[in-house]
Amino acid sequence: MKNNTEKFGKTPHQPSLWTRADALKVHADDPTTTQPLVSANFPVLSNEVFIWDTMPLRDMDGNITSVDGWSVIFTLTADRHPNDPQYIDENGNYDITRDWNDRHGRAKMYYWFSRTGKDWKLGGRVMAEGVSPTVREWAGTPILLNEQGEVDLYYTAVTPGATIVKVRGRVVTTEHGVSMVGFEKVKPLFEADGKMYQTEAQNPFWGFRDPWPFRDPNDGKLYMLFEGNVAGERGSHKVGKAEIGDVPPGYEDVGNSRFQTACVGIAVARDEDGDDWEMLPPLLTAVGVNDQTERPHFVFQDGKYYLFTISHTFTYADGVTGPDGVYGFVADSLFGPYVPLNGSGLVLGNPSSQPFQTYSHCVMPNGLVTSFIDSVPTDESGTQTRIGGTEAPTVEIKIKGQQTFVVAEYDYGYIPPMLDVTLK
Ligand code: FRU
Repeated sequence: MKNNTEKFGKTPHQPSLWTRADALKVHADDPTTTQPLVSANFPVLSNEVFIWDTMPLRDMDGNITSVDGWSVIFTLTADRHPNDPQYIDENGNYDITRDWNDRHGRAKMYYWFSRTGKDWKLGGRVMAEGVSPTVREWAGTPILLNEQGEVDLYYTAVTPGATIVKVRGRVVTTEHGVSMVGFEKVKPLFEADGKMYQTEAQNPFWGFRDPWPFRDPNDGKLYMLFEGNVAGERGSHKVGKAEIGDVPPGYEDVGNSRFQTACVGIAVARDEDGDDWEMLPPLLTAVGVNDQTERPHFVFQDGKYYLFTISHTFTYADGVTGPDGVYGFVADSLFGPYVPLNGSGLVLGNPSSQPFQTYSHCVMPNGLVTSFIDSVPTDESGTQTRIGGTEAPTVEIKIKGQQTFVVAEYDYGYIPPMLDVTLK
């Protein structure tokens, strides 16, 4: 197996590496990088549906945008089945944990609206049944394109395969609420190529998803981030000196870490509409460190590129670990080199006493971080838990150079607009 330099050549850029040495600096429970405890008494958005990944409506520059005073979020959503015999256990009780764990297989894109940036009202499904070409509608990004209310929803069409797609529709407002119209024709954009990005044939556990298009504030071109794994047959990757980094004596053993091959992918649009894309080598690789760098996104601040991505404890490689949460990297230019924030990369992790309390964090340009509640312990031992499937309290972080600090906490699902667009 080739290393990064051999694989990706000298042009146009070399992926930056999140090394095992960087990851050794990850420490759970540092209060400046830990999400405050979520109470088990949280309110739920809906008793009918679970929600998880939250995608606020925004413009191509990343600004969270309301329309005619209405805030809009899209969420991955699945029905709750409290009365379905399939989810009733042998004691006659609803097995919500199993229902929740099965949700990915029936994920659909829904939208919600609000006058206050919280207290979300359910709008409904974005696409009618049968519009999306595959079973699962996985994460992506809704982009408000103009004052006519046109919206491009970039998302991942999964099972069979995993294809980055987009569908165009329109947001319509009245005094009473918001509706989504159109969203009838899904356009496939691209799939993993097996040369830069791992395919299903190379690894049945491959990841290729979560498009996040943006306009580079410096060169003005349209790009897209996405989650991938580094191409190559599963098990063939090399964890060499570069991937290990500068470790102390006794930390050279990489175990089976060659199976963890996450990367943050990037593509560039060949056209202004974002219908024609060319994949480029990844911006960041985590070979030997972690197998998933999900939902990558940027905050552009102080002339720098702050790259955020979510990851899990269970996807870390042998010999390194860290909490579920959001990790970050910073560079002076789009193609890097990227340096892990806070030395380690950890920006906002779950406390070790509640390791699954939240996930799928999205850092917005105003420093607010939204996420969903996964499960919260209801007893001291942590054996009893309450499943969430709803919005977590919003947290604010301050980003300063190569460091970040948790500075405030707000209401559940608080996602205020950064600008309002009056529709014509
Ligand atoms: C993150 C995530 C995304 C994916 C979705 C699937 O929570 O794993 O990467 O698109 O959830 O449900």
